[in-house]
Amino acid sequence: MDGAVIPVAEARIGVTDWGVTHSDTVYDVVPVRDGAFFRLADYIARFRDSMDSGRFDIGMDGRDIAAALTAMVARSGLRDAYCAMVAMRGVPQLPGSRDPRDCKNHFYAWAVPYVHVIRPETLAQGAKLWVGKGMRRIPADSVNPRAKNYHWGDFTAGLFEAKEAGFETVVLLDHAGNLTEGPGFNLFALIGGKVVTPDTGVLHGVTRRTVLDICAEIGLDCETRALPLDQLWTADEVFLSSSGGGVLPIVQVDDRIFANGAPGPVAARLSRLYWDWTARAQYRTEIAYPDG
Ligand SMILES: Cc1ncc(COP(=O)(O)O)c(C=O)c1O
Repeated sequence: MDGAVIPVAEARIGVTDWGVTHSDTVYDVVPVRDGAFFRLADYIARFRDSMDSGRFDIGMDGRDIAAALTAMVARSGLRDAYCAMVAMRGVPQLPGSRDPRDCKNHFYAWAVPYVHVIRPETLAQGAKLWVGKGMRRIPADSVNPRAKNYHWGDFTAGLFEAKEAGFETVVLLDHAGNLTEGPGFNLFALIGGKVVTPDTGVLHGVTRRTVLDICAEIGLDCETRALPLDQLWTADEVFLSSSGGGVLPIVQVDDRIFANGAPGPVAARLSRLYWDWTARAQYRTEIAYPDG
């Protein structure tokens, strides 16, 4: 924060920052596995695209951002981490101004131990996914879902529904009845032997890309296209992708059971391969920790 590495509990943001009062912020999260960032350049490229889309200027290039993240994670000592980078609109330099061009944008980052969007124990027992009923995903022409953002009102409402119904998490439909994504993940279905994932109205997850890359390598056909809810019911398997856990098999969506109620063979294989890929030198940016 402001160029210094400090304990998370000591980090402060002003209450009048537009990042707080207007959710006027973009962010990204890169995973650290076994002492290295995974696909760091891809996460930073997406973060920079998100900033361009929201017209943020933090005065740092990709190399500056990588250096800040590396210094922070090295100091934290964390070998497996959830490493977030954030650009906030800031406060107007002219007090009282309502013009976003007057705001001094700023950057900060934070790292905590690795986060699983669904706990591994829950996945092993069979994770259940709820399709949001009362809330649709905010339209892509209202908030750009490809610019990673903190507009989570729709997801939070969906999570209340899911939790109250006894489900682990939620996926939201768009206004045309197509599946989109959920809080922290993209959605996949295995339909007629093909791996299908929604292409519009979603963040293009780096894990989603890794899944598509793995499928290409092992010769599994993929389709990125609209996925209407009624097609999901014909799927053999359903799974999620996230930097918080890789490939996450789902055994139940609403009242429908998939893959006989156990993680499906394709999802299980992709999950194993995802972890293998995090060990590939070409995708790793090793971190030099002060204690070696
Ligand atoms: C809304 C949303 N969709 C998808 C994802 C998955 O993206 P990634 O694989 O880059 O973590 C996330 C990650 O946090 C997300 O917040």
